[in-house]
Amino acid sequence: MANIQVHEKAFKLFISKEEIAKQVNRIAAEIDQDYENEIPLFIAILNGSFIFASDLIRSVNITAEISFVKVSSYEGTAVGNMNKLIGLNTDIKDRSIIIIEDIVDTGNTLNKIMPYLKEQQPKSIEIASLLSKPDAIKYPIEVAYNCFDIPNNFVVGYGLDYDGLGRQYADIYQTI
Ligand code: IMP
Repeated sequence: MANIQVHEKAFKLFISKEEIAKQVNRIAAEIDQDYENEIPLFIAILNGSFIFASDLIRSVNITAEISFVKVSSYEGTAVGNMNKLIGLNTDIKDRSIIIIEDIVDTGNTLNKIMPYLKEQQPKSIEIASLLSKPDAIKYPIEVAYNCFDIPNNFVVGYGLDYDGLGRQYADIYQTI
């Protein structure tokens, strides 16, 4: 499909499923090399990363574990905005962690959860992201495994939503 409509917005095809698969395979091969003698723990951040995570974990050849978490943000009283990680029931001390994120936009989400994860003394912690918007970044987030740098336009599909809709598309679309 060349164009789609999600809520009131029109979107056009931006990145095809074939291009996505190529990049997912590329970073999977890098991960295979970098974690050759380890059993990393992937931590996929829901909801947006669920399709990317399922493709990535099936593309790596190493033995790996995967855990799914959610970041809930709420207004704190004295401390301002807090982000809480829900669902991480695994002990990550001394583990090699690879966070799976759908998109690094401002970097705010990862900037909040990285210190929390580092506090638990993993052996290493890296980020795998489907998309990054370099023009929107506000925090120093280093993405070790990035599939695509994209312009600062809103995108949907392949797990990413616009107000709850659009996650099911196999390709990625951007606003017209
Ligand atoms: P950040 O904390 O600003 O880096 O934003 C990260 C989250 O915002 C992502 O995990 C997405 O859920 C959401 N997000 C940012 N940009 C987009 C977009 O273009 N489409 C859909 N979701 C987005």
